[in-house]
Amino acid sequence: MISFKNELLNSVLSNAIFAFNSLHLNTTVTLNDTIMSKFDVRELLQKMWEDYVGLNPHVLEIHNIFVERGDDVYNDHIAIRTYNHPKVCVDVLARPFLKGGYKEAGNYRFEEKKLNAKHFEHEDESLPKVFISELRLEEFDQELNDIVTGLIDQIPDGVNQEDYFPVSKRVWDVSHETYEKLLEKSEYAAWVAAFGFRANHFTVYVNKLKSLDNLKDLNEVVRENGFLINESGGEVKGSKEVYLEQSSTLAGKIDLEFSGGKMYRVPACYYEFALRYPLENGKLFQGFVAKSADKIFESTDVHR
Ligand code: NI
Repeated sequence: MISFKNELLNSVLSNAIFAFNSLHLNTTVTLNDTIMSKFDVRELLQKMWEDYVGLNPHVLEIHNIFVERGDDVYNDHIAIRTYNHPKVCVDVLARPFLKGGYKEAGNYRFEEKKLNAKHFEHEDESLPKVFISELRLEEFDQELNDIVTGLIDQIPDGVNQEDYFPVSKRVWDVSHETYEKLLEKSEYAAWVAAFGFRANHFTVYVNKLKSLDNLKDLNEVVRENGFLINESGGEVKGSKEVYLEQSSTLAGKIDLEFSGGKMYRVPACYYEFALRYPLENGKLFQGFVAKSADKIFESTDVHR
């Protein structure tokens, strides 16, 4: 659905595989895993990373800035967006991750954005946390609900039961007019309609970087290299007091195909940066902070 220059895509993808391999993934599969299931959640995460950097060339460029500084780039979490419709809700998207060994570790309510979310953790701490949010459709008008139901009705049978559903991308046809109509009601609803099921963002785990230890300096490095930081709610969201600070780039705009093969320029995904602080027990806080995330969600807003 996305148009690219082929050679660009190829180089992005081959770099991406290198990039993901450099995340110190533990690729050892135990005998028990093999008996339990042939599904390897690491392959799903790899596919999500390839899709994400293919869609958002700025991500790999920023990733490589850290690599060139001698840093090991770990992912703190990946985020997926959906609607709370029973066919595509958080619990449906979470299934492959649970099958792959992830466990539910937190749930959240975002008042301003009208979202619920859950996060999942894997016992292999080198794997990113998975954060899945869903829009509470019942808090929107009939028109938005009709549009969303119309999209979900187009999903081919069984697709939402597949292990790779979280990277199935857009599994419906949507017109640019419909996208614009959704934008007026919810930027989040419009993003999901345009992009479907895939990573909305990956997140650099700043605690693991050797060359940087705070988000202000990190944001400056990103800016110096020509990228924009989301400043909605201040460039750093959260604080030491809530054990989590986050910042992010502004989503890059890409040409996306809508109904009838028509191309329009829309914001795609952003790259996030997370710095975690220790709790009283000395362990780094691993959860999320609703108030900060409300602002982070605006990184994909259409800046008019
Ligand atoms: Ni995030």
